[in-house]
Amino acid sequence: MSSQPQLSFAPMYVRHVPLIGTMERRNYEFPWSDGIFRDCVKAGYIARLVMLDDEIIGYGVMQIGADEAHILNLCIDRPWQRQGFARVLLDQLVQEASNRRAHIVFLEVRPSNPRAVNLYQQFGFNEIGLRKGYYDSANGREDALVMAKNLVSETDDFVRH
Ligand SMILES: CC(C)(COP(=O)(O)OP(=O)(O)OC[C@H]1O[C@@H](n2cnc3c(N)ncnc32)[C@H](O)[C@@H]1OP(=O)(O)O)[C@@H](O)C(=O)NCCC(=O)NCCS
Repeated sequence: MSSQPQLSFAPMYVRHVPLIGTMERRNYEFPWSDGIFRDCVKAGYIARLVMLDDEIIGYGVMQIGADEAHILNLCIDRPWQRQGFARVLLDQLVQEASNRRAHIVFLEVRPSNPRAVNLYQQFGFNEIGLRKGYYDSANGREDALVMAKNLVSETDDFVRH
């Protein structure tokens, strides 16, 4: 009898970077270099692998400083897309941010990436601004939408302080 594959999360270590770098180049037109992933891991950023049984199917990288979290990268590999895994990964990162007492989670996204914009909007992220010419693009530079999700209500904030 075959059982359902199990989804889980694992820490990303430097030894995972070559595989993650290959996945990154498969999924982004302007990928991070392996060196950026290594730097994030070495700097102690939250770097998570999405595992389906023993297979790595995606990853997320997030930085937390003071009471703010910043999602820097989030990817589900092509064969595994459109099955709800990005939503589960986003939920995991937001939970970890909340557990570490972050009050707000920020991220940047290309307006030309409707899959990601939809995902974040659906998850409760709101557009809070634009960063002009933030990304490389085929036509020069592309702006970034800055999105944010509050993790505490004003009442929670009041109780905490
Ligand atoms: C964007 C990305 C992470 C979505 O991953 P995914 O596992 O396919 O997403 P999910 O199946 O969890 O979908 C969740 C929501 O995302 C949005 N979405 C995902 N794929 C979409 C598509 N092809 N078209 C439109 N919306 C899409 C939808 O809102 C979807 O909810 P719905 O299924 O109820 O409509 C994935 O396409 C990816 O890794 N792309 C390459 C890297 C990237 O662009 N990362 C984001 C950088 S900011």
